[in-house]
Amino acid sequence: MLDLSSFKGFFGGHRILVTGGAGFIGSWLCDALVELGAKVVCLDNLSSGRVDNIKHLLNSGRFEFVNADVSSWCAGEGFDVIVHGASIPSPEDYMSRPVETLLSNSIGLLKLLENARENGSILLYMSTSEVYGDAAIIPTPETYYGYVNPIGLRSCYDESKRFGEALCMAYFRQYNVDVRIARIFNSYGPRLDVNARYARVVPRFILQALRNEPITVHGDGRQTRSFTYITDTVAALVMMLAKDTVRGEVLNVGNPKETSILELAEKIIKLTGSSSKIVFTEPRPDDPRRRCPDIRRAKELIGWEPKVQLEEGLKYTIEWFRKCV
Ligand SMILES: NC(=O)c1ccc[n+]([C@@H]2O[C@H](COP(=O)([O-])OP(=O)(O)OC[C@H]3O[C@@H](n4cnc5c(N)ncnc54)[C@H](O)[C@@H]3O)[C@@H](O)[C@H]2O)c1
Repeated sequence: MLDLSSFKGFFGGHRILVTGGAGFIGSWLCDALVELGAKVVCLDNLSSGRVDNIKHLLNSGRFEFVNADVSSWCAGEGFDVIVHGASIPSPEDYMSRPVETLLSNSIGLLKLLENARENGSILLYMSTSEVYGDAAIIPTPETYYGYVNPIGLRSCYDESKRFGEALCMAYFRQYNVDVRIARIFNSYGPRLDVNARYARVVPRFILQALRNEPITVHGDGRQTRSFTYITDTVAALVMMLAKDTVRGEVLNVGNPKETSILELAEKIIKLTGSSSKIVFTEPRPDDPRRRCPDIRRAKELIGWEPKVQLEEGLKYTIEWFRKCV
């Protein structure tokens, strides 16, 4: 992981709210912020997050857990920094709970922006590469408008994140709230939910490989994604909080190395030494064909680029999954 210790001066003593803090990215971010001296309030309704991800922080003296839904929660206090990550990110999960997905990125976010407005806080919004939909420009720069089906099965996620970004920018322009938006591309690593009913592609393939079961690839597997190891994702989020250059900005946070799903499956079979065979299943609705970020803006504004290569990150992740299954 990038050495973030130079940011201790910025975070020391800050009171920071992390919504979705018991989830995958949120819990790694809580770890980093507590380590940097911040006092963290983690808000999560545990719909996909787990207490296991944060239990090591509970006695740190700088960490508090609130079990609540962000869309109905009343803060009753202010924060120096708010990070909004509470959302349902796994496609099958958000397709089966589209209303909750829309609410956490609209009403939930609205409440947090009002809180930030009243207290002069920084608000970092965890958006997604899915705002680009099936992008026509690869690598995709932040200036690309997106090609998204507004009423398709994925729209509850894609469009709610697009609305969330628009709401952040409205608060920035109209009320001068210090908003920052991270468009995150597939992040992976330890703590991805092993027991999820609908696991995301990296944990699903690893589990199938470790169990020597068929690896299920949707479509022909030639669709590409950008896989970013969790420590790189978290480093970008920390840097976005600490650097004023990103006030009112949106940044792609992803690995510029494009990898096909088939290539990912083959790498995982090799790294686990599995006897699994690849099987092809029906394509997912509105599944983007290619996804790869242009990260020149992140390099320029915060000096960030990912450090961990896919094979290395997969090895750490597989090691962790072996202990869990
Ligand atoms: N992991 C990725 O590759 C990725 C990619 C793009 C964007 N994102 C975004 O990053 C954020 C974190 O994703 P993640 O991968 O850590 O997923 P995750 O499911 O592990 O974490 C999301 C957390 O939010 C909580 N949550 C969901 N709805 C809530 C609600 N209404 N109120 C309170 N808590 C709620 C869940 O319990 C969970 O702990 C999400 O906003 C997601 O959209 C993630």
